[in-house]
Amino acid sequence: MSPADPDEEGRGPRVSRRVFLGAAGAAGLVGATGGVALGTSLHGTDAPAPTPERIPFHGANQAGIATAFQHNLNFAAFDVTTEDSGELRDLLRAWTYAASRLCSGLPVGPVEGPPAAPPVDTGEAVGLPPSRLTVTFGFGPTLFERHGVDRFGLRRLRPEPLVDIPPMPGDALDPSRSGGDIGVQACADEPQVAFHVVRTLARMGRRVVAMRWSQVGFGRTSSAGHHDPTPRNLQGFKDGTNNIGIGDQALLARDVWVGAADSPAWMRGGTYQVVRRIRMFIETWDRSALREQQETIGRHKLSGAPLGGAQEFDAVNLNALGSDGKPVIPLDAHIRLAGPTVNEGVRILRRGYSFTEGIDARTGELDAGLFFVCFQRDPRRQFIPIQQRLASTDALNEYIMHEGSAIFAIPPGVATGHFVGEALFGSV
Ligand code: HEM
Repeated sequence: MSPADPDEEGRGPRVSRRVFLGAAGAAGLVGATGGVALGTSLHGTDAPAPTPERIPFHGANQAGIATAFQHNLNFAAFDVTTEDSGELRDLLRAWTYAASRLCSGLPVGPVEGPPAAPPVDTGEAVGLPPSRLTVTFGFGPTLFERHGVDRFGLRRLRPEPLVDIPPMPGDALDPSRSGGDIGVQACADEPQVAFHVVRTLARMGRRVVAMRWSQVGFGRTSSAGHHDPTPRNLQGFKDGTNNIGIGDQALLARDVWVGAADSPAWMRGGTYQVVRRIRMFIETWDRSALREQQETIGRHKLSGAPLGGAQEFDAVNLNALGSDGKPVIPLDAHIRLAGPTVNEGVRILRRGYSFTEGIDARTGELDAGLFFVCFQRDPRRQFIPIQQRLASTDALNEYIMHEGSAIFAIPPGVATGHFVGEALFGSV
């Protein structure tokens, strides 16, 4: 590769090698020899042409939100350990550049270099396709203020919608699976590609950030629109039927993207992400009768049709009464309580993944469930009131438990040559 390191669109360099290596070097990525030149051979991995395998990293909005849903997730929450906002800014610049390369299927640097230094790229994604990789960055409330301390001079720039999520009935939140200063969501069809992102960013961030928790997910639990077959969650139900379609620009503009007149200005084109690690009591669910499962959700298991309907995408009729005079979709059914009819019309974009992590040693039961991920324009009007309603009356509560929780402000997308959150850090 020439010294003119191409970006993933194949144009010339916008982030200089010096900047990348400077930040990466500060973060410990570059070996003791003082640096492995990024411009040396990457073994023929020139900037690839766009393909269906590749989702562009750059754009008005960050990818990984209203872009095609991939099959695997690797999510990491980091705490910032430095007190120097300059170091943090340099790391974000280096992370942005690294993410743009990874999304193109390029290594972050040579996988072979001086024998006495660790390779810049760890190599496990070499030879794998870009796998529709997306890397989405977000900022948690504690980045703006922690224990009353304005750590990086960002307090006055904290968005009002970036609230701490209030405690909900039934919460069993584990602090070691919750919160975080920075969230990184890596999604790809190939799990090793998503893993490579989190590993690489953590490695680059040494001495500036520390990983607080991470979550691996598989089998996306949301569809991206009616053209996309709806996947099933671990309860065996189609999940994502009544989701916001990623092609529905009007709904995305209304309910997901921070608008041109919204404050703060640095968030325009961004969104807010809420993640919840929700454990499913699979064994209890598997012992419950089909009728009970369907009435819990409010839909038929196999077809995904709403109770009272015949096809998956039939309209949900919350007013229909059965021959016994009772609502066909019970008053505590999940889709009644989560849907827009009872929630003042608001909707959220769901983008969750299933997880399984062996056995819960305390109970001998499967540690499995839903890593719930949603995006919205204002969590105070969207996730929080919906979840308050669900937490107090949803029939599903008998079968689930919320164990982890985090919220992140997702800044807008990045133009070539810029870095994620630049408008925020440019204001301090
Ligand atoms: C383990 C926990 C959960 C499971 C198993 C689950 C499962 C489901 C299923 C099977 C559907 C019906 C298909 C669909 O329209 O997507 C659904 C719908 C929905 N869920 Fe969940 N869900 C869970 C947690 C949540 C949470 C925490 C929220 C938000 C706070 C939520 C919000 C929604 C919404 C908004 C809908 C669409 C309702 C409609 O408009 O018809 N879900 N969920």
